[in-house]
Amino acid sequence: MLITPAIHPVILPVPADARDLSPQRRVRFLSRHAREALRRSAERLQVELGPLEKDPRGAPLPFRGYFWSVTHKPEYVGGVLAPSPVGMDLEKIRPCSEALFRQTASEEEWALAGRSGREQLFFRYWTAKEAVLKTGGEGIKDLSRCRVRKVIDDTHLIVEYSGAAWPVEQIFFDGHVASAAGQAVRVEWALPT
Ligand SMILES: CC(C)(COP(=O)(O)OP(=O)(O)OC[C@H]1O[C@@H](n2cnc3c(N)ncnc32)[C@H](O)[C@@H]1OP(=O)(O)O)[C@@H](O)C(=O)NCCC(=O)NCCS
Repeated sequence: MLITPAIHPVILPVPADARDLSPQRRVRFLSRHAREALRRSAERLQVELGPLEKDPRGAPLPFRGYFWSVTHKPEYVGGVLAPSPVGMDLEKIRPCSEALFRQTASEEEWALAGRSGREQLFFRYWTAKEAVLKTGGEGIKDLSRCRVRKVIDDTHLIVEYSGAAWPVEQIFFDGHVASAAGQAVRVEWALPT
């Protein structure tokens, strides 16, 4: 019997005093804090982190066959380690402009979701696409090549990118949504307690 491996995206809150740091120091702090989330994700797989290097585009490079992804936003950071390509993104759900809404997905894609709340739906699609884009390394410039193909339920959808169908698993917490994209993996979220 084939057992689907579990991955454990870890989300950590940003300490309140990080807001007092200068913008540059805050970004460095958030980046380090996201690596702490990644370390905890690796710990759950009983894997010791290798060198966390990136390619010239800024995309994480795998070590010893393990892939990693981090995300850092003002209130929360996240990190995930996986035995296959993986991407993670999180965002606070907030108002978004009509232009960004139209740019992020086509009418056909939005129609797949039925009658969900507009802001929530926007950030579901946005974080799903960002998570999938992170697996490829090209970043936001490939957004138009990324299409939501199926909305399975409130926390699962399928995004097509580079000829592959990427399952995306999502979680809602404290006004935020997080997405994890990976093939043939079971996602077990680790949320702040
Ligand atoms: C590069 C990109 C993936 C960054 O996403 P983001 O949402 O800005 O930032 P996140 O905090 O979620 O992710 C940052 C991490 O992505 C990773 N990353 C950077 N470039 C990457 C690339 N080309 N491919 C994959 N991962 C990349 C890095 O590990 C980075 O963390 P680090 O600098 O601490 O190592 C990209 O899609 C991008 O530029 N997005 C623009 C975001 C934007 O316009 N947002 C508007 C919100 S409505």
